[in-house]
Amino acid sequence: MIQKLRIIKTIIIIFVLSFTFSANAETVEEIIKGRKALFSKNYSTAKRVQALSSKGDFEKAKKLMLEMSENYKILINYFPDNTKEGFKTEALPIIWENKDEFNELMTKSSNDMIKLVSIIEDSEDIKASLGKMMWGNCKACHSKFRAPH
Ligand code: HEC
Repeated sequence: MIQKLRIIKTIIIIFVLSFTFSANAETVEEIIKGRKALFSKNYSTAKRVQALSSKGDFEKAKKLMLEMSENYKILINYFPDNTKEGFKTEALPIIWENKDEFNELMTKSSNDMIKLVSIIEDSEDIKASLGKMMWGNCKACHSKFRAPH
């Protein structure tokens, strides 16, 4: 009888513990730091895209463009309601007041990187194309949704 109770108790404890851990699989700190790291990575990738495209190394540049496009899709999920403040976030509250607009900008940024893949090689002005379809999107979003830094 005592043996049985012990087993039941153990099962309950394991159940409760696993539930608590899975509910907090990613803490607020991990999410905010995670999105900052991903934005920083996109920044260094964007600089490489610019350098490679200017050199005419389009194959490598295109691979990185697709990588950036995927990262934007991941970033959309990095702004849950409980990550509005803390951990030196520069995300502005207006993101959550205009979540549709914010997500649309993120999706547009992702789609533009795919468009860039298809036009970059035949582009008459590579710098202008990157400005319009890559850097322009950073600026459009930052000017409204990221704190001045
Ligand atoms: C749709 C919106 C959006 C787009 C597009 C966007 N960003 Fe950001 N970016 C943000 C937000 C919001 C933050 C603030 C994140 C935080 O601090 O929690 C940020 C932060 C950053 C940071 C700082 C990361 C850190 O360590 O604090 C860098 C660097 C950055 N972005 C670069 C870029 C570059 C380069 C592009 C374009 C190639 C870009 N971003 C496109 C919204 C965007």
